[in-house]
Amino acid sequence: MAESSIPLAAPRLASPASVPEGSELVMRVMPMPADVNANGDVFGGWIMAQVDVAGAVLPARLARGRIATVAVNEFVFKQPVSIGDLLSFYARIARIGRTSITVHVEVWAERNPADPHLVKVTQANLTYVAIDGQGQPRALLLKD
Ligand SMILES: CC(C)(COP(=O)(O)OP(=O)(O)OC[C@H]1O[C@@H](n2cnc3c(N)ncnc32)[C@H](O)[C@@H]1OP(=O)(O)O)[C@@H](O)C(=O)NCCC(=O)NCCS
Repeated sequence: MAESSIPLAAPRLASPASVPEGSELVMRVMPMPADVNANGDVFGGWIMAQVDVAGAVLPARLARGRIATVAVNEFVFKQPVSIGDLLSFYARIARIGRTSITVHVEVWAERNPADPHLVKVTQANLTYVAIDGQGQPRALLLKD
């Protein structure tokens, strides 16, 4: 039987060259048809929910316990998101306070498998608060 010409390993996903220094990939997800609006673009609210989940990854690690989103300080939809886009969420810690952590999140879409390219679709700043068992702010105890 002839050998398949399909490579066994898929090519590595490209990382956007312009991702800010210090950011790390915290999540990847692909929107589904249920996530689009009447125009055929992905709902902004769906993207916001994904950014909230992705933004919590680094603060949760640092806080070593429960956290809650206290604020979405900035949210910019730079480009529409479409079905078939593979979304990568890059995050970095922007500020650490007494009980709160602010995170900068950038969302990049990998689109058009025939000629793949990366587009920055969203950027946001969100703040999370470390909370105790009663849901009250607690001081962060940061270790090296
Ligand atoms: C998060 C919560 C416990 C904070 O309680 P609070 O009494 O408002 O707390 P404080 O006013 O002491 O603020 C706590 C921290 O949040 C920061 N903060 C509050 N509002 C903020 C805002 N709009 N932007 C940025 N930071 C903010 C404060 O500066 C403080 O940070 P610091 O201790 O590092 O200086 C409370 O607001 C809450 O339960 N909110 C609902 C959370 C929620 O349901 N989120 C959605 C689902 S996770």
